[in-house]
Amino acid sequence: MSDKATLEINGEKYEFPLIKGTENEVAMDIKSLRGATGGVITVDPGYKNTGSCESAITFLDGEKGILRYRGYSIEELADKADFLEVAYLLIFGELPTNEQLEQFHDDIKSHSVVDDDVKKIIDAFPKSAHPMGVLSSLTSALTAFNPSSVDVNSEEQMYNAIVRILGKFPVLVSWAMRKKQGLPLEYGDDSLGYVENVLKMMFKSPNKEYEQNEILVNALDKLLILHADHEQNCSTSTVRITGSSHAGLFASLSAGISALWGPLHGGANQAVLEMLEAIKEDGGDTKKYMAKAKDKEDPFRLMGFGHRVYKNFDPRARIIKKAADEVLGDLGVEDPILDIAKGLEQEALEDPYFVDRKLYPNVDFYSGIIYRAMGIPVEMFTVMFALGRLPGWIAQWREMRLRKEPIGRPRQLYVGETYRPFKEIQNR
Ligand code: SDX
Repeated sequence: MSDKATLEINGEKYEFPLIKGTENEVAMDIKSLRGATGGVITVDPGYKNTGSCESAITFLDGEKGILRYRGYSIEELADKADFLEVAYLLIFGELPTNEQLEQFHDDIKSHSVVDDDVKKIIDAFPKSAHPMGVLSSLTSALTAFNPSSVDVNSEEQMYNAIVRILGKFPVLVSWAMRKKQGLPLEYGDDSLGYVENVLKMMFKSPNKEYEQNEILVNALDKLLILHADHEQNCSTSTVRITGSSHAGLFASLSAGISALWGPLHGGANQAVLEMLEAIKEDGGDTKKYMAKAKDKEDPFRLMGFGHRVYKNFDPRARIIKKAADEVLGDLGVEDPILDIAKGLEQEALEDPYFVDRKLYPNVDFYSGIIYRAMGIPVEMFTVMFALGRLPGWIAQWREMRLRKEPIGRPRQLYVGETYRPFKEIQNR
């Protein structure tokens, strides 16, 4: 393969380097495009064909349905690792030794208390507030209580900010849920594992001992691993571009949480459950919703289906679908919603509209069924996605900062009015 691409514009030829990644993907390096061509740029709404960076964290092959974190397959990590191990792998690039993992967890636990004044902020929210809005606000507010986390340039300063947010974020997640339920806002228990601690903070009843349930611990641990990173998705790109201005880690994460909230992105897991509930209320009439999803006049989309990159099965959806059967079986939960989901999936996989557009179930299609069986309220589903994605956002932000990436500032193609003189109001 040639190492150059040639572009011809108005009879002029321009050459641009072709660069190859470690998985043999090829990119055209257009850093010199505008200067070399006297102002020609590219336009690519949604960045469907544009790479924003080089990254060594996560590899996706959308055609083959491959997902790897730092070279390890998602299937093996979901099966053999735990969430904190995967968080360490994503952030620092290698699977930790026992000592490294223990030190990492100790450092996180040493920062797992949130300033009590943050409760005054959460108290100001109405109970009706969506937990994603609460979480985004509180994450940004943490900056005020941890000023040393803002101006971080050295790896050590970044590490301190990283273990702080990994310690405090699960507390905020539990507070966002308990606030809506009118329950006291608890702190964690340092004697527990990371995921055990999350579950206890979320579900501990004020008037009785909390008993861990291994089924819930294993299910949540696996779900968090499956959500931990996904290269340059919408919310991760938001974290990176926010961080590229050297905004602090917490402010960058707060921006990412807001981006994840959207129903086309992480908010889809809540939208899937609401869609399946509506189908159930409609007597299981999946055909009506399939028709709506295919009707160009109808804004409705089959939530949990389709993906910008996967044009094959989302490997995470396969794992979660299997886990849904296992978890509901282990918990002894019969949920008709799961049967409706499977029926809908089968119909879509046989429908030319979906087959032609390569629309398959994505990570959000089955995850909510497990969250619901675990007793997590539907408005908290996207918060759980954020908890899983936290180490991925951190890893991508850290990589961007350590590689000293330039501030993100895309160009545009202007299509508005050309120059026109000001018109006095009496002449308009
Ligand atoms: C996540 O990027 C990531 O990695 C995200 C994520 C991660 O881990 O970070 O994987 C998490 O966000 C998963 C996606 C969750 N969102 C949903 O489930 C919402 C429903 N899906 C869609 O809105 C859509 O599929 C997207 C947003 C996921 C992808 O949109 P694209 O890549 O911009 O595709 P598109 O809108 O250009 O669609 C191509 C065609 C269109 O039809 P035509 O114009 O060609 O006739 O497919 C159609 C779309 O109308 N289409 C759908 C559809 N998804 C795409 N039609 C009906 N139902 C759908 N779900």
